[in-house]
Amino acid sequence: MTTIHTPPSAGGHAPVSPSFNALGDDYFRDPAKHFAGVREATPVFWYDYLNAWIVTSREDCLEVLGDWQLFSSAQNSAAEVPSQHHAVYPPELISMMIVGQDPPTHTRSRQVAQRGFTKERMERLRPEIEARAHRIIDKFEANGSANLMEEYSLELTTQTIMALLGLGYEYDPMMRQLRDDEAAILSSAHEPLLEPRRSEVWDRFVNANLVLRDIIESRRESDADDIISVMASAKDAHGAYMLSTDLIGLHLSEFAMAGADTTAQAMTNAVIFLSQHPDALADAIAEPTLWSNVFEETVRRRPSSTFTSRTAMKDVELSGVRISKGDMIFVSLASANTDPTYVDRPFEFDIHRPNPTDHLAFTAGRHTCLGNPLARAQGSTGLKVLFERLPSIRPSNPDELDFLRMALLPVRRTLHAAWDLADVERSRERTVRTLNLQVSKRVTASDGVISLDLTHPDGGELPQWKAGAHVDLHLAGTGGQRIVRQYSLCSDPEDLSSYRIGVLREPAGRGGSAAIHDLLVEGSTVTVSWPRNNFRLNPTRNYLFIAGGIGITPILAMVREAERTGTNWQLIYGGRTRNSMAFLEELAPYGSRVTVVPQDEFGHIDLPGILRDSREDTLVYACGPEPLLRATESNAAHWPKDSLRLERFAPKIFDAPTVNLPFEVEFSMSKKTVVVHADESILEAAERIGLPVISSCKEGTCGTCETPVIEGQVDHRDSILSPTEQQANETMMICVSRATGTCPRLILDA
Ligand code: FES
Repeated sequence: MTTIHTPPSAGGHAPVSPSFNALGDDYFRDPAKHFAGVREATPVFWYDYLNAWIVTSREDCLEVLGDWQLFSSAQNSAAEVPSQHHAVYPPELISMMIVGQDPPTHTRSRQVAQRGFTKERMERLRPEIEARAHRIIDKFEANGSANLMEEYSLELTTQTIMALLGLGYEYDPMMRQLRDDEAAILSSAHEPLLEPRRSEVWDRFVNANLVLRDIIESRRESDADDIISVMASAKDAHGAYMLSTDLIGLHLSEFAMAGADTTAQAMTNAVIFLSQHPDALADAIAEPTLWSNVFEETVRRRPSSTFTSRTAMKDVELSGVRISKGDMIFVSLASANTDPTYVDRPFEFDIHRPNPTDHLAFTAGRHTCLGNPLARAQGSTGLKVLFERLPSIRPSNPDELDFLRMALLPVRRTLHAAWDLADVERSRERTVRTLNLQVSKRVTASDGVISLDLTHPDGGELPQWKAGAHVDLHLAGTGGQRIVRQYSLCSDPEDLSSYRIGVLREPAGRGGSAAIHDLLVEGSTVTVSWPRNNFRLNPTRNYLFIAGGIGITPILAMVREAERTGTNWQLIYGGRTRNSMAFLEELAPYGSRVTVVPQDEFGHIDLPGILRDSREDTLVYACGPEPLLRATESNAAHWPKDSLRLERFAPKIFDAPTVNLPFEVEFSMSKKTVVVHADESILEAAERIGLPVISSCKEGTCGTCETPVIEGQVDHRDSILSPTEQQANETMMICVSRATGTCPRLILDA
């Protein structure tokens, strides 16, 4: 027999939970666990502080969420607009938020808004989110610690929603403030804002809405695919705009908050859960598709929106408790997601659950979170990048309780985290990261050479690099095959607004330079790796630079660096003809430091003369065609060891033919051993047994596959490591180098 209780609003007695405190530290630390203590005894209880019912069982929650006619959302955005703003912000407008409407107005707003948040579109955003996440981490990676919530999670989600809305950096402060003001206004229905804060919040909120309205108006006929344009240009069957400018402005302020804060909360919570579950972290790092499960399990265990609210439209009974018409009901999503009658091992953080998305973190029914495809794409991608870059990241104090203390809705503002800088270095070595960049400028630099400026589509800074670095360009060959080619950066490393490369068309080449010359025009998009540097400019008293033809590109950046550090330098620059030699005008201001040697005027560079006297205080950096590099090597043979550094475009040619024998390689981290056959490389053998190795040139010239050596003697065949580095035997390029010795066997740290 059920006991019927009646709420205080009906003059009766209602079940309450004396131990429940939605403003206490216990609740903020772990809302779901706090509910576990009350759910069994009082699945539905009255909470005076909110003047509302709280519903905790999954069954009751689903019943409330599934019936919008019986449980209305119309009171969800009730807030009092100050009278001084009524002329531009009608008091009824605030109640028309998507979260605060019922059909049919809700349906119309949602129909328009969700065109901007489709699952397909959000999935396509992953590379862009990934690139953005890398750029953000770049800024604090070297510090070894950060306020993860502010510096990473919120930064990433805010930048992404800005890009989706098609708003430039100039609107960034306004949108961040709008995010916080929106939260304050929404919660003011239950926790009133006090003066003078109330006026300040509303003044900013209304002003931001006016700015947004101007932008919406300017995009009414736009066919761009940013969300503002998509919503502003949506028309009904009669050609009328579907939503008013005021209403779109209101919805944009909702997106500013919901689109940024909720996912940021989830990413930060995931870091705490993973620090407590190292097995789950190890699994996700080993199998990146599991990052989606990490995100789902995080929001199941701790939803970012721990509740949603409704108003009873009739007298109704839930779990034997009578709720009167007009009563407010808070649906506890945190409790529903850990209800043991439905969820197996509810408090275990298990990223291998058979149905990871079976939870109510994004609510259910008509108000299922509109932005859930964005949250899912961004949350899982943001976590993947974070742990790729900072694999040892741990919260400094997982119990840190810096929250905006809104009842039932803990909004975290701080989570300090720290990581091991040595791990950062190791992960950098093992990861090839890419960016989708745009060709912002294409000019002819000389006969057969073009220079391309590559910039980020959203105008953001590019990853840092140093003189001598190169990038991989990922191109489609004429037959549709994927081509990856390396190009040295020749711009100024101090200017991160763009990268510049110089590309010589090589008619007898393998198709990379032709694809760039033929396909990349201003406005084209191209996938570019992060810069890597195998040709570092080491400090010395004097530099002697030797460049042949397009080999001038890395040297250009080196010349700038030498100038910047005040180091003495000389450049000998040879080429077929003066017209074929790129960037001569940039070198002209350096006067006699630069010797230009067009072959048709002066013959070959006089390497025997230039390199005759060896110098202890001089480093020689040479880049150019293979004959020039071989001649430089032989003429500098008497120079001190390691004073010569070469950058090769093509594999090194050995004086004596190389012999390949089979040998065994043990990959210590992966705990796998493989026999490398005589006709394959270590890289190929590793790929054959399914190891996630990375590579690019596959000919020992780019350094991508560099792998630490734990044991065994290496026959180094690359063009990157210096003689001293080869002798040290600490790393090897597994695409070309092999094992040597009487009993060849290698143990690699991979
Ligand atoms: Fe380029 Fe091995 S893949 S050096």
